[in-house]
Amino acid sequence: MANNLNVEYLKGKVVDLDKMLPEVRVFAPATVANMICGFDILGFALEQPGDEVIMRRKQQPGVTIKEITGDDGRLPLDPSKNTVSACVQYLLQALNIASKVGVEIELHKHMPIGSGLGSSAASTVAGLFAINVMLGDPLTKEELLPFCVEGERLACGTGHADNVAPALYGGITLIRGNEPLDVISIPSPKELVAAVVFPQVDVPTRDARQLIKDKVLLKDAVTQWGNIAGLVAALFKEDYDLISRSMKDILIEPTRAILIPQFYEMKEIALQHGALSFGISGSGPSVIAITRDEQVAKNIAEKIQAHLKENEIESFGYVSKVNLEGPKVLN
Ligand code: HSE
Repeated sequence: MANNLNVEYLKGKVVDLDKMLPEVRVFAPATVANMICGFDILGFALEQPGDEVIMRRKQQPGVTIKEITGDDGRLPLDPSKNTVSACVQYLLQALNIASKVGVEIELHKHMPIGSGLGSSAASTVAGLFAINVMLGDPLTKEELLPFCVEGERLACGTGHADNVAPALYGGITLIRGNEPLDVISIPSPKELVAAVVFPQVDVPTRDARQLIKDKVLLKDAVTQWGNIAGLVAALFKEDYDLISRSMKDILIEPTRAILIPQFYEMKEIALQHGALSFGISGSGPSVIAITRDEQVAKNIAEKIQAHLKENEIESFGYVSKVNLEGPKVLN
């Protein structure tokens, strides 16, 4: 198997193919990786946007892509290159049923690609969740996660889990370690609402990762890990002032902000209009304002979008609470 998966833990899993469902439709959510201060280790799921996968059983073994919509033709239809079909195939191989099972996939993208909202993660999670449901849920979410991480490695070159873990588990997740994967779900304070704005410029994660310095000053590292620890404590305590003090990024934001037009102007608008915090969503160019009130979040999204329009930049805006559920079956 040409991938980085070690699937020993699936040894002995048995799937009853007579009970395999003929079709399933699944939604998986967009995610905000990093949560501003926690580069590669923190993330949360949004209620919207998200991607949809329709998967159907077919007679011939093998995984094929029937259709992709909403991607402007940018995603590969070749099943070995498309992350959704490739990961589904890895799962079938790991369960030793690839020679017996065939599925065709429709992928409907309802969010922009290269936006910093975990677009590839939402698609991969939707696909893997769908095949698992069709097979009668042989894998737990913990067992599915390594396959989702493999999808990220195919899509962006590194297997960071801070989009796929919240997309799969829902809520807020902490990636304590990658090898082995050690993912912890963190409580989501009830009042948190995010305003997310995607200025329509393309920032591929691969490029945004190459920009970052690979050495940091110890004093900056101390500031950053103080903020990360402060944020995790604040989420447990539902302490919104501490959330506000902690969601600050001095390591990555100064470099990546260069790729995002009007970043500091958007930050000023958000903070002036009641945001607890403001920063880059994932690798950008989407930005997020964290609030504790839906009206405040709506107003901030509108003000930022109006500002971008004045500067001739088109944008999408979303207002969303933390999605606690993760992927869901739609039919
Ligand atoms: N943690 C990753 C990054 C998320 O910031 O590059 C990419 O969506």
